[in-house]
Amino acid sequence: MREEGILTGGTTPEDEVIESGLRPRKMDDFIGQGALKERLAILIEAAKGRGEAIDHVLFSGPPGLGKTSLAGILAAEMDAQFRGTSGPALDRPGDLAAVITNLEAGDVLFIDEIHRLPRQVEEVLYPAMEDFQLDIVVGKGPAARSIKIDLPPFTLVGATTRVGRVAPPLRDRFGYVARIDYYDTADLSSIIHRSAAILDVDITEDGSDTIARRSRGTPRVANRLLRRVRDYAAVRANGHIDDDIADRALEVFEVDAMGLDKVDRAILHAIAIKFGGGPVGLSTLAIAVGEEPETVEDAYEPFLLQEGFLQRTPRGRIATPRAYEHLGVEQAVVESPQGTLLDE
Ligand SMILES: Nc1ncnc2c1ncn2[C@@H]1O[C@H](COP(=O)(O)OP(=O)(O)O)[C@@H](O)[C@H]1O
Ligand SMILES: [Mg+2]
Repeated sequence: MREEGILTGGTTPEDEVIESGLRPRKMDDFIGQGALKERLAILIEAAKGRGEAIDHVLFSGPPGLGKTSLAGILAAEMDAQFRGTSGPALDRPGDLAAVITNLEAGDVLFIDEIHRLPRQVEEVLYPAMEDFQLDIVVGKGPAARSIKIDLPPFTLVGATTRVGRVAPPLRDRFGYVARIDYYDTADLSSIIHRSAAILDVDITEDGSDTIARRSRGTPRVANRLLRRVRDYAAVRANGHIDDDIADRALEVFEVDAMGLDKVDRAILHAIAIKFGGGPVGLSTLAIAVGEEPETVEDAYEPFLLQEGFLQRTPRGRIATPRAYEHLGVEQAVVESPQGTLLDE
C-alpha cells in the first residue's frame, strides 16, 4: 500500500505557488549556511570587480535545502537575468542549443537535476562551459554540417540531489562545487519566522521551535508544516500558533516527535520488521513502501542515515537499534539475509 508522506516526496503544486512568495531573493534573506554564503559572496564580489560573469557553480544536496533559491540569488546579486531549465527537459542537443543561443552576457543559466542530462546534450555543454562556444551538427545524412557559434560569457548553475551521478567531466567544468547540508533547529526556526511574517501568521518563539524540530532539517518541509499548522490553528484555535497548537497539529498530520512522516516510518518498519532488520536492497525496499527507488534514496534516506536510523552496508540497508527504539519494537535477534534478491 502506498503511504502518503507530507514531509518529502516531490514538490506539490501548492508548494510551487507558495514557495515563489517565500523564496529568498537576496543573499541577506537566505538564512543559515553561513560558510557557503561567505564563499558565494566572495565569488560574486570578485566577478563584479573584474566585470565578468561568475564561474560556473554546482549545488548538491537533498531536496528542499535551497539550491534553486541560491541560483536565483546569484543572478539577482549579479543583476543578471535568470534562465531556468532542467536535465529532463533538455532531451536533445537542439533543446540546449535553443536555450543557450538566447543567453545574454552575464546571464545565469540554471539547470536543475543536472545529473539527468542525456549524454549527447552534456557533450554540447562542455565547449559551451569551457570556451563559450556552441558546437552543433545540424541536418541529417549528406546535408549534415557542423556549425560553431560564439556565445556570450554566461554562468551555468547546476543543481543535483545526486552529485555521484554527475559525470566527472561535467563536474570538473564547474569552478565551484558546493554541498548544502541540513539546517539546524535555530536556523529552521528563523526560516519559519520569516515565512510566518510573509504569510501574516501569528506564531510564538516556542511555536516555531516546535515546528523547526520536526522539519527534517529542511526549509521546504518547515514551510509546509507551517502551512499545515496554520490551517489547524485557523480551524481549531483562534489562528494563533504556540507550541501546544503546533504539537497538536503535527500529531493530526502524523509527523512524529523526530519529524519522521508516514513514509519514513514505513521505510524503517519494512527494514526492521518485514525484512528482519536487513540487509535489504534499495529496489526491494522501494517496492515494499510503494515509492520509486530514486525517491527513497534521494529524499528519505539521507535524513534517516544522518539521524542514525539506518545504515548502508555493501549488502543493503540495515535498521539500527535507534530505529527499533523509535518504532517501539524489540530488535530482531537473528540477522536475516532475506530481501537481498533484487539488490542493485
Ligand atoms: N536558507 C533559506 N532561507 C529561507 N528560506 C529558504 C532557505 N532555503 C530554502 N528556503 C525555502 O525553501 C523553499 C525550497 O527551497 P529550494 O531553493 O526550492 O530548494 P531546492 O532547490 O534545494 O529543492 C524555498 O522556496 C524557500 O521558501
Ligand atoms: Mg530546486
